[in-house]
Amino acid sequence: MPELFEIIESTRAMRRLKPDPVPDELVQKILRAGVCAANGGNTQRWRFLVVKDQAIKKKVQVYYKRALDEVVGPRYRTSAPPPGVTREQYDRQHSAVEYLTEHFHEAPVWIVACLDEGTAAPTRSSGASIYPAVQNMLLAARALGLGTTLTTRHLLYEKEAEAALGLPPGVHSYAILPIGYPMGRFGPVGRGPLADIVYEDRWGQPYRGL
Ligand SMILES: Cc1cc2nc3c(=O)[nH]c(=O)nc-3n(C[C@H](O)[C@H](O)[C@H](O)COP(=O)(O)O)c2cc1C
Repeated sequence: MPELFEIIESTRAMRRLKPDPVPDELVQKILRAGVCAANGGNTQRWRFLVVKDQAIKKKVQVYYKRALDEVVGPRYRTSAPPPGVTREQYDRQHSAVEYLTEHFHEAPVWIVACLDEGTAAPTRSSGASIYPAVQNMLLAARALGLGTTLTTRHLLYEKEAEAALGLPPGVHSYAILPIGYPMGRFGPVGRGPLADIVYEDRWGQPYRGL
């Protein structure tokens, strides 16, 4: 198994997945990694819905695709590549995004990361108690040779998508991880230089530790 930093540096969004089933034993390992994460006050309000039912996934995919067609797609076409990413890589990313959108429901298993918040309104802190678990799951999937992507686009149609997922009142979804064996290879992640984003003592002053 690759060592930790190798895993971190190659945990990319893997959007082209094979339909081959993922053994429950591996899904369980991913979930165990998830609940090792930090969470506020150790209240563990996280809940995880494992979805394999094709009909449920298809219902959500309809909203996921609508959100691309109506909101995210047009934004993509007009935006510049992010730091550390060439135009060509960015265009490739966009075509992978389109691929995942079309095939979202065909990923053999989804983990929907949720919080049971009761009547409390979600805040920035709520996200802070679920995304560490999500990141642990991304890393665990990578370590097991499985591909996945942190997705949140269904939230543009939150009510409809959560109804399709059958979430009870007070429970909200924060991410859907479509998981499967990847078609491609795990390459290195592309990010900009640390020097552009890290400062020392005073905002804007270069960090001398680089
Ligand atoms: C908050 C958040 C929401 C995201 N939502 C989506 C999504 O809905 N669909 C998708 O394909 N990727 C989604 N991503 C994945 C990002 O596009 C991805 O992390 C970014 O492009 C970097 O990709 P890389 O790690 O492969 O370099 C999301 C990532 C984050 C952190």
